[in-house]
Amino acid sequence: MIHISASLLAADYARLGEEVQRAEKAGVDSFHFDMMDGHYVPNLALTPEHLKALRPYSLLPFHTHLELDNPDDSLTNFTSLQADIVIVQWNTLTDPVQTFNMIRSQNIKIGLALNLDDAFDGASRFFQDLDLLMLMGVYPGFGGQPIQPGIPERIASARLLADQSDHQIKIAVDGGVKPENAASLVEAGADILIMGSALFQSSDMAATVQSIRESTARSPRH
Ligand code: DX5
Ligand code: ZN
Repeated sequence: MIHISASLLAADYARLGEEVQRAEKAGVDSFHFDMMDGHYVPNLALTPEHLKALRPYSLLPFHTHLELDNPDDSLTNFTSLQADIVIVQWNTLTDPVQTFNMIRSQNIKIGLALNLDDAFDGASRFFQDLDLLMLMGVYPGFGGQPIQPGIPERIASARLLADQSDHQIKIAVDGGVKPENAASLVEAGADILIMGSALFQSSDMAATVQSIRESTARSPRH
């Protein structure tokens, strides 16, 4: 079954705890926390304090997406915060092995995000270290943007490379994922769909989750 991760960037910030409960009730599988520094991307978003405050509201996994420079400086923040996966951006890493070791030493799974312009060749050397490879569907920084062209093709290439490594890697896509394009992304090889505005701005979140599950169920992978 496809994994649907709810990106809280699109939630109502005046009542985040209720938004987490609403999304869990609607049937999502995990929560995605965008942490931004106003420098790597021209926006600020959630912080480790949000993750800590929201942890009691759900038992579902929390995925943290670091859209910031110098991720090593922030990693110590997650030690006691029960992030299940930390996803770092490939082009922020000066020493990928060191960063991955820091994450792994905290018993947290490792995700790597590739931007639209990132080629696979540099990053593929590190696939054996990863639990998750995340392809951005948009330029990072803001929710609600339309998905860029060519994402299913990028997913298919990533799937091929990931399957060639002797290590199980999940493929995720983040940004611009909608009920209308979910099936094509899953058919191309995505395991995890990260969705912000399509979930939190829908009038019936449970129906949206259900329609994505139905439209992706026919993919041979799920
Ligand atoms: C973009 C963020 C995404 C964003 C997705 O920088 O990393 O997680 O919340 O939002 P939607 O689903 O609205 O494109
Ligand atoms: Zn994200």
